[in-house]
Amino acid sequence: NSGALWGGRFVGGPSDALAALSKSTQFDWRLAPYDIAGSRAHARVLQQAGLLTDTELSGMISALDQLEADVRDGSYTPANSDEDVHGSLEKGLIERAGAELGGKLRAGRSRNDQIATLGRMYLRDHASIIASGVLDMIDALVEQAEAHPYAPMPGRTHLQHAQPILLSHQLLAHAWALSRDVERLRDWDARAAVSPYGSGALAGSSLGLDPEAVAAELGFESATFNSIDGTAARDVYAEFAWVAAMIAVDLSRFAEEVILWATKEFSFVKLHDSFSTGSSIMPQKKNPDIAELARGKAGRLIGDLSGLLATLKALPLAYNRDLQEDKEPVFDAIDQLEVLLPAMSGMMSTLTFNTERLAELAPQGFALATDIAEWLVRQGVPFRVAHELAGEAVRVCEEKNCELWDLSDEDFASISEHLTPQVREVLTVEGSLNSRSAQGGTSPSAVAEQLTALKKVLAEL
Ligand code: ARG
Repeated sequence: NSGALWGGRFVGGPSDALAALSKSTQFDWRLAPYDIAGSRAHARVLQQAGLLTDTELSGMISALDQLEADVRDGSYTPANSDEDVHGSLEKGLIERAGAELGGKLRAGRSRNDQIATLGRMYLRDHASIIASGVLDMIDALVEQAEAHPYAPMPGRTHLQHAQPILLSHQLLAHAWALSRDVERLRDWDARAAVSPYGSGALAGSSLGLDPEAVAAELGFESATFNSIDGTAARDVYAEFAWVAAMIAVDLSRFAEEVILWATKEFSFVKLHDSFSTGSSIMPQKKNPDIAELARGKAGRLIGDLSGLLATLKALPLAYNRDLQEDKEPVFDAIDQLEVLLPAMSGMMSTLTFNTERLAELAPQGFALATDIAEWLVRQGVPFRVAHELAGEAVRVCEEKNCELWDLSDEDFASISEHLTPQVREVLTVEGSLNSRSAQGGTSPSAVAEQLTALKKVLAEL
């Protein structure tokens, strides 16, 4: 049976049904360059251990180089009968190096330690691509924040008007969350940078191979200290899937705001033509598809994570074939984020804000009531009482169908003697914003400090 990695004890080849079920080249072929890099490193430790001569090593390396070039230009692809990337590449190696030499490479390694290593290599490369995609999105948020340093907007809790805030403050809130996601990817890498190569099937190798040398050649910090853990653990994949899902969830929270902000009712933002879509029937439509896809894909990435965790649950050590199911969830998470992030950054950086409308709505819905209460506190009124009095002012406004600043001096006086006409100093958006000047607050000065702090964090990422 062509390209099979076993034979000795088998009389016949696998049934078609088994081959169809078992096959993974349709998704693991993307690991081919990593498999070949692993093979090169493995060939070198075989030579160091005296299991390949110098001539054999150079023959092996040039056959692997040739194979890599053929994989890259598409002239070598897996045959329909190939089970997985490892088997297919061994067959390709043998075609180029001959059966005698090509057949020597498999000594001291197993597909179990190979796949565990290749997966980590692939994830590490894509973690850094995703991190730079997230950083681009953060840059887009920061640029918009810097373009609107003083623009007020209605701040919300429970989606209800709460207090006026700066638009830049709101945008930077998303940037902070995403910056922690980049930190997570960096932290994760410390755990991913350990190579399982040399673990063999589960018990390690008897051939005197040096796992640290392989690890170093493949860009890892070290080799695993436990071959069972090396071949069986997938927590590094699961943690990656969690961080990927968190990125998608953070993007979806911003996306949801964009979707709301782009409605006729909100009219806070206008999407750029090149980052929005039309309708095939309704000529007037301009749809926030990117944001909706972000929201949708967040669900998908949560599914990738939970599917992977479900695969791992209660799986005995060491390798089990169930682990072949570890790849598609993380590959899917990577593929989705790699198309989503550039679209989200583009949508963000081309968004136009209706700052006039944002400013007009900022104080509405009695969003300055807290300012009245806090002003009273500064006059020595206990907060419990101040809260009551500000609440009464809101009730009077509702009766009169007006906003807080429309109340007359008499209205205020009839609520409480403490509510002197001076209270008007906090009944402006500007006064409200400026008063929240401590670290983390929404005043222009605090937001400027926040921006400096964020940039410092970003510079270290
Ligand atoms: N294709 C397999 C996987 O993805 C590689 C390891 C197979 N090992 C084995 N003993 N069948 O997990």
